[in-house]
Amino acid sequence: MGVFRIRSALSNPMMETTASSPGKIILVGEHAVVYGQPALAVPVNEVTATATVRSSTVGSGLIIQAINLEQELTLAQSASEGLARAARLTLEHLGAAEPDVLITINSTIPPASGLGSGAAVSAAIIRSLATYLGFPLTNSETSALVFEVEKLYHGTPSGIDNTVVCYNRPVYFVRGSPPEIFHPKHSFSIVIGDTGVPSPTRDTVKAVRTKWESNPSKCDAIFSEIGAITQLARSAIVNGDILELGVLLNRNQELLELLGVSSQELHNLITSALDMGAFGAKLSGGGGGGNMIAIGPEDRIEAIRRSLLQAGAARVISSIIGSQG
Ligand code: PMV
Repeated sequence: MGVFRIRSALSNPMMETTASSPGKIILVGEHAVVYGQPALAVPVNEVTATATVRSSTVGSGLIIQAINLEQELTLAQSASEGLARAARLTLEHLGAAEPDVLITINSTIPPASGLGSGAAVSAAIIRSLATYLGFPLTNSETSALVFEVEKLYHGTPSGIDNTVVCYNRPVYFVRGSPPEIFHPKHSFSIVIGDTGVPSPTRDTVKAVRTKWESNPSKCDAIFSEIGAITQLARSAIVNGDILELGVLLNRNQELLELLGVSSQELHNLITSALDMGAFGAKLSGGGGGGNMIAIGPEDRIEAIRRSLLQAGAARVISSIIGSQG
């Protein structure tokens, strides 16, 4: 199979391919998802990672240029380098030899802030390279490869990031089970406020692990309640009850504070959104910095957005959930 694929790719090379992946945001369930509880996450199409593969000079090998990171890598780059690993895993998966190509990456997704930047960049590289070689991958294949790269970034990733950015749909996710796409009854707005404080997910996942090891029964009870909130949040979205969803977000935030993954900056943004009429607000992703989210009545969304900027948010993104299907 591998040999056939290489021959086919060489006999019909495409000169240029491009693939994009959206960012993602977790609505509820982060951290608990690592311990087997469900989480909900949605794509954020207002930010994207794009990879373009172009034929290069014979003998150049595969070169990756990450424009935002001002980084240039070869395929032979150390195994700990995620971008090179994404390309290498794709070639291994296809049984293809290293092609002479230049892969250029552009991303508007802020890194290390809970928006799934690493997974989106990996997905864009994997899809564009596989398509260039003449073998476009399914969502499921791409997601499995991105998951392998995510292990470098996250240590013990749950798999939620790769699932959401590869399927580009709202997802109900339980570790080790096939992801379930879910459909909001009505589309609704979400405001994402960035504290501007970078916080690698790996660090907060490790901190929660340490807490869990020192007090497993307390942490397990928190994880269980977060799991129950996630189930209720899915029902609220499917039934179009955004007010109820807000109540659930607020309780989820209290539990994340008990886990020790909130911060003063997150708290300030959350408070300002609630003061401005949000139905609910919480941190999103690993915490410790990064992003928070707020939902509220449509006629308050712009005011919430402005209040977050006034409260010190480095960036605010408004996104419509449900518009992608
Ligand atoms: O910070 P993010 O958006 O990459 O999300 C991390 C979510 C965690 O549950 C904390 C970790 C994981 O791998 O699911």
